[in-house]
Amino acid sequence: MKKILCNFKMNLKENEIEEYINNIKDYKEIIFAPSYIYLKSFKEAGLKVSSQDVSEYINGAHTGDISAEQLKSINVEYCIVGHSERRMLHNDDSRINEKIKRLLENNIIPILCIGDTLEDKNTNNTLNKLYNQIDNALSNTNIKNIIIAYEPVYSIGTNIIPTNENLKEIIIKIKEKIENTYQIQPLVLYGGSVNENNISILNSINEVDGYLIGGCSLDYKKIIEIYKKSNIRHN
Ligand code: PGA
Repeated sequence: MKKILCNFKMNLKENEIEEYINNIKDYKEIIFAPSYIYLKSFKEAGLKVSSQDVSEYINGAHTGDISAEQLKSINVEYCIVGHSERRMLHNDDSRINEKIKRLLENNIIPILCIGDTLEDKNTNNTLNKLYNQIDNALSNTNIKNIIIAYEPVYSIGTNIIPTNENLKEIIIKIKEKIENTYQIQPLVLYGGSVNENNISILNSINEVDGYLIGGCSLDYKKIIEIYKKSNIRHN
């Protein structure tokens, strides 16, 4: 099984969400990360959900933020942390470790996004960057269960995806790093311009445990197509 996580980002309005849920509610294995205000609608339809982010604080005077306790109170199972858009626009790098701690205190599984830039890639700095992001996020956490989303920044919304060989090599290195340093075996998803056309090529990489899908996930027909293509059982 390949895990599919749909990241709607700041898209879709109430009526569009209703239509989406009506058409996807039989696909109980897909995880949806809508805006906070729609999390409950997905839960009520019996679907799995992820938050798009969480505050590093427990509660209190943090207008506009959402806490891990609040997410837990409606049984949110997963939470994305460190998406490159948050790292870039909200200076999140320094907060990620505390965010992971809040999630663990509330038994919410973190989905940690890590990714290199084109400059990292061109200067052979990819693994260094990824290992630093991992250590920055996971040090002093007693982590037992985590999902990693490898999202090269240059692949997000650009239709440029790494070659299969490149992706396979990086994903193997990420798994080795986390197994060796934290003694856990994470699932590693790939994210960045995944769509219904390139999914079959990506599916041929056994080391990829699933996908974090942005733009393409806004169309439920495409997600159903991707889900079906990704989950043909071979055994
Ligand atoms: P994309 O976004 O699929 O639109 O490239 C992926 C992401 O940002 O998580």
